[in-house]
Amino acid sequence: MSAPSHPAGSAPSHPAGSAPSHPAGATETSRQTGELPVRVGMVGGGQLARMTHRAAIDLGVSLEVLTPGSDDPAAAAGARFHAGQPDDLDALAAFGATVDVVTLDHELVSADGLQRILDAGGTVHPSPRALRFAQDKLHARTGFRDAGFPVPPFRAIDTSDAVASFADVHGWPVVLKAQAGGYDGRGVEVVADVDTATSVLTRPGDWMIEAHVPIATEVAVVLARSPDGATVVYPVVETVQRDGICVELVLPARIPDALAHRAKDLATRIADTIGVVGILAVELFVTTDDHLVVNEIATRPHNSGHATIEGSVTSQFTNHLRAVLGWPLGAVEMRAPVAVTVNLLGGPEPVDPRSRLPLALQDPHVHAHLYGKLWRPGRKLGHVTVLGDDVDAALASARLAAARLTEPDPPGARP
Ligand SMILES: Nc1ncnc2c1ncn2[C@@H]1O[C@H](COP(=O)(O)OP(=O)(O)OP(=O)(O)O)[C@@H](O)[C@H]1O
Ligand SMILES: [Mg+2]
Repeated sequence: MSAPSHPAGSAPSHPAGSAPSHPAGATETSRQTGELPVRVGMVGGGQLARMTHRAAIDLGVSLEVLTPGSDDPAAAAGARFHAGQPDDLDALAAFGATVDVVTLDHELVSADGLQRILDAGGTVHPSPRALRFAQDKLHARTGFRDAGFPVPPFRAIDTSDAVASFADVHGWPVVLKAQAGGYDGRGVEVVADVDTATSVLTRPGDWMIEAHVPIATEVAVVLARSPDGATVVYPVVETVQRDGICVELVLPARIPDALAHRAKDLATRIADTIGVVGILAVELFVTTDDHLVVNEIATRPHNSGHATIEGSVTSQFTNHLRAVLGWPLGAVEMRAPVAVTVNLLGGPEPVDPRSRLPLALQDPHVHAHLYGKLWRPGRKLGHVTVLGDDVDAALASARLAAARLTEPDPPGARP
């Protein structure tokens, strides 16, 4: 589990200790003089880039972000700021020319722009080909089904008649999904009748339909994969969703070992199939009859990997950098029997979690992460992680800290 695995029958092309010290694309000057830092460019400047920046500091790597605002979370935390939109082809090409490797903090990045970086001789991880599986749910469903991975019945759809005939076969409710652009449950609608389906289909964008899966538990497999195929797989993490948003993580997931083993094997085969480099997160449903169904993937550090920051020997952010740079991957054993994370979501009333830190940190086992974002209802403002021996005790501590950071009348505050 902890040692890097390699695809069956192939030895690693560069064993630990002999990996190239420069990524493809490092300049001749830096090769000759050994001048570092290595420059990693990340498109997007949100909290994932911010936490990658923190990992980059430890490695002496310069993280540079292409993002619209100089006060976006990563830029505000000191990552070198390049102003630009993720769908601006010229901005992407110029960005690619200044860094050693380009990687991503989100999916909404122009594949054509990334291709221009590749055409100019740059390095991009994940590749546009791998990224498409994260950008386009219909493409992912089709590709995974054709590769033999378990997915729910699905099809592209644009009329309510087609919804009705799909439901005749697969039953109500059905799930309507925007083929691209959805996140945090936006673009995912569970509908129980044709009238509701009709109104969803009037919304802009291309839609697909899939059968409603009877879910017992949602889990994710987070792994890191190198350019030579070397892979490390974190323990399966349980992801608790509320209103389509992941609110809590339990690492490792409370599922049988045999199921966890199958989940890790499935995720590794998906990683090899799409040829991803960097972190891959595979969201899975565990059905009420103990089958695994692939939901969606992310080809970048992912919310379901946040418990690895304190919970694992090497965090997902450090392993993402090591993977995209072609460096040996870090061990993924846990540092404690259990790590739980509770996301800090903006409540209905404005609360600045920064003002609450002294209260939340009264529990010395709470690790708080604030993303530097302003309050908005439902917005992910940060997360807290607690390690321990017992899931229920760790969850109670993390939930209390989260409540203290986000609720208008926090528990335990002096009147
Ligand atoms: N076919 C399905 N059957 C039952 N529930 C589903 C199905 N598809 C999605 N869901 C529920 O909706 C949630 C959100 O779906 P999905 O992950 O596809 O959307 P998203 O908005 O892209 O998510 P994310 O927040 O991970 O970016 C899932 O975590 C699951 O709880
Ligand atoms: Mg999801």
